[in-house]
Amino acid sequence: MQQLCNRRILLGISGGIAAYKSAELVRLFKRAGADVRVIMTQGAMEFITPLTLQALSGNPVHHALLDSEAEAGMGHIELAKWADVLVIAPASANLLARLAQGMGNDLLTTVCLATEAPLCIAPAMNQAMWRDPMTQANLKRLQDAHGKNLTLVGPNAGEQACGDVGPGRMVEPEQIAQATANLFETGLLAGLHVVLTAGPTREAIDPVRYISNHSSGKMGYALAEAARDAGAKVMLISGPVNLPAPDRIELVPVNSALDMLAASMATLGKCDVFIASAAVADYRVVQAADHKIKKSDDDIHLSLTKNPDIVATVAAHTERPFTVGFAAETQNLEQYARNKLVQKNLDIIVANDVSKSHIGFNSDDNAAKVFWVDGQRQFDVMSKRQLAKQLIKLIAGQINSKNK
Ligand code: C5P
Repeated sequence: MQQLCNRRILLGISGGIAAYKSAELVRLFKRAGADVRVIMTQGAMEFITPLTLQALSGNPVHHALLDSEAEAGMGHIELAKWADVLVIAPASANLLARLAQGMGNDLLTTVCLATEAPLCIAPAMNQAMWRDPMTQANLKRLQDAHGKNLTLVGPNAGEQACGDVGPGRMVEPEQIAQATANLFETGLLAGLHVVLTAGPTREAIDPVRYISNHSSGKMGYALAEAARDAGAKVMLISGPVNLPAPDRIELVPVNSALDMLAASMATLGKCDVFIASAAVADYRVVQAADHKIKKSDDDIHLSLTKNPDIVATVAAHTERPFTVGFAAETQNLEQYARNKLVQKNLDIIVANDVSKSHIGFNSDDNAAKVFWVDGQRQFDVMSKRQLAKQLIKLIAGQINSKNK
């Protein structure tokens, strides 16, 4: 169930004896690395206490729609937007009827209306209630309305709590968790710690001036998000950029190359994959002035010294992670990139031809040629987000073949 790592699962519990099994479902989701929030209907709280689910999920349980205090914390719209998936287990006959009517008369039904996340529904009820034509009609209506966005899990047939035998038993939590996991594409980097550098560095001249470059950080941020979506725990060591902090990613803001080096080295030992997408300034001022340098009629001369190569330092360490570097070139792309692959002791190098103005620095699009010791792959122009997804796939594939 690697696909569930880092996912946000909203679990709706309605009133039925199977509600006790939802406690186990929360545990399975948590064990798979998901962030879980629970919404309970009034009926659900007759069967199992919110405290149990709060303790297991690690988050307060939501149940009130018209409660100013609850809405001030995380209201129905925030919950609806927060969720990567909405799982309803157990879904009672009454809940199915209310959903089929498009009602929003409690928190769970309202969130169902408000969310665009996929729905996974595990019904549970007495066999006669399940067979009732109204329940079947409600279910059909829901399936017609939601199409592929709705996954129905179960119910199973068997002995029921009331003594009846027949269809209506909620399927076991493992099966619901697996059905939820199946909704997500990948878990290619599940369980791995990925550290990325991104953006430019700023090398101080004095307290108000610096040397830097035009890196936007967009490629690095897109890669960080793609790594997170592939199930990795992600740390993003970022120079100053104009991008919002990405969700569910540990952001470590830095300024200079030396700061970026220190932050990167501090991750060794717990870093599995290091992706150096930052445009690190090659030089820094030997001694930045403590006070603003006053303008005078004379020319001034800055003495510059070489910055350490961060990715090469990481790759030379005894606790070396799988290491990916970038190369922005204007000519001899393959030759220069392959040289850097060897010199910096990288596993993969992603090379960009920056002589083409519509891609690369500051653009939303990018193309790349990727090289590794015994292979290469070309990616034609696409959005940085799409390219990031492709690169993460390729990186995961190379890690796998290295570990074989
Ligand atoms: O040598 P060049 O700057 O072209 O190499 C680019 C690659 O090396 C990028 O992955 C970049 O993040 C990394 N790099 C670094 N530290 C430096 C210079 C480059 O990590 N001081």
